[in-house]
Amino acid sequence: MQLRIPDSISARQTGVLVTFYRVSRMRKNKARYILIAGALGLFVLHLCKESVNHKTRQLNISETEVHNKRKQLTKKSYVYSWPKCQQNTSAALIKGFSGLPQNIQDFLYYQHCRHFPQLLDLPNKCGGADKSGEVFLLLVIKSSPNNYDRREVLRKTWAKERIHNGVWIRRIFISGMAGDGFERERLNKLLELEQREFSDILQWDFSDTFYNLTLKQMLFLEWMERNCPKAHFLFNGDDDVFAHTDNMVLYLQSLEDNDGSKHLFTGHLIQNVGPIREPQSKYFIPVQIQKSELYPPYCGGGGFLLSSYTAMVIYNMSESIPILPIDDVYMGMCLAKAGLGPASHMGVKTAGLYIPFTNADVYNPCYYKDVLLVHRFLPAQMYVMWHRVQDPNLKCGHSNQMPNIATL
Ligand SMILES: *[C@@H]1O[C@H](CO)[C@@H](O)[C@H](O)[C@H]1NC(C)=O
Ligand SMILES: *[C@@H]1O[C@H](CO)[C@@H](O)[C@H](O)[C@H]1NC(C)=O
Ligand SMILES: *[C@@H]1O[C@H](CO)[C@@H](O)[C@H](O)[C@H]1NC(C)=O
Ligand SMILES: *[C@@H]1O[C@H](CO)[C@@H](O)[C@H](O)[C@H]1NC(C)=O
Repeated sequence: MQLRIPDSISARQTGVLVTFYRVSRMRKNKARYILIAGALGLFVLHLCKESVNHKTRQLNISETEVHNKRKQLTKKSYVYSWPKCQQNTSAALIKGFSGLPQNIQDFLYYQHCRHFPQLLDLPNKCGGADKSGEVFLLLVIKSSPNNYDRREVLRKTWAKERIHNGVWIRRIFISGMAGDGFERERLNKLLELEQREFSDILQWDFSDTFYNLTLKQMLFLEWMERNCPKAHFLFNGDDDVFAHTDNMVLYLQSLEDNDGSKHLFTGHLIQNVGPIREPQSKYFIPVQIQKSELYPPYCGGGGFLLSSYTAMVIYNMSESIPILPIDDVYMGMCLAKAGLGPASHMGVKTAGLYIPFTNADVYNPCYYKDVLLVHRFLPAQMYVMWHRVQDPNLKCGHSNQMPNIATL
């Protein structure tokens, strides 16, 4: 694999700024000024030469070497330092390529790209890597730039940052880029404004499309390893689910032998299914991407819970597994490679809730007060439901009560 490793650009820029600052303070000493200006000129010349070298220098390095190099970069320079990944033009030589849908072609052109410049960062979300053990449950919510209304309602409802039952819940939205031209600029500005007010967005410079969701997940895990490795548990899910995060905390606290340092990966378990070979499907995977007719067991990507241990196992495994564009299946592949498996949790209803009575109110809070997650909710429904399930006066009869989560 060919990758270009940049030097620490922002560190150099900082050097230039500091030099300018010093120069402006030394006007009275003309001789020294000329000397410094001369030195600065030489320095700038040197920079130009370096950047030309840098442009022409292609290094052949493995992913492991990238990993090591990454660790050497300082935190600040790291964020901006990944160069744009180049299209792999040989992908067009794959048998049957021209007959594949556009988004699959795009995927094949960029499948090898794993690192993208980060536009919005939150290095202190967990109080820094060392203190990140104070975060019990980190909510990692996939949200594309357009979904402003969903983010707004989640901030006020189940994704509110708070202490519940004595432990911290923190929130992060993960995003790429959407739109073109002015629209793209506007959406970037939107995220930037939200970030200023709420400090809850990680954004990278890649197209936020369905087939790039795996990339988004892996970029998040890379961020987590650096900035929040000790958080105990993660909820990973979509921005249109109703996630009962109070119940999640209670469930996770009930795991007596696991504080996040052991394997946990649970949600809506999907087994014995394989790639969908119909090009019209949202989930289409042609044989050119995966030959096998069977996926390993995985949990539906609408939302699942995992320990930070398992998150890091998945991240480690991912370095040697080519990206599959369906994110939840890909996580199942990483688990399988580590000899681990996902588990089923009855409280996770990514396919919606089964309501036994045809004439029942499908938004009766009694159906929701004991679940962990239900897919999918509109923002207004979310807002009402979150308040109704928390109402201490909520009375539910036995006939429509769901079993208690602790017994599932
Ligand atoms: C990079 O690696 C490829 C294949 O591993 C090899 O063909 C190529 O010559 C290498 N390029 C350089 C500059 O070392
Ligand atoms: C580019 O695509 C070809 C065809 O799929 C593949 O053999 C090759 O390994 C790819 N190169 C990189 C850098 O991923
Ligand atoms: C993923 O993002 C990259 C970088 O923006 C883009 O070039 C590529 O087309 C995207 N892939 C898909 C399948 O959308
Ligand atoms: C992941 O890999 C790193 C570096 O190779 C290692 O230190 C760490 O223990 C691994 N983590 C897990 C959970 O396997």
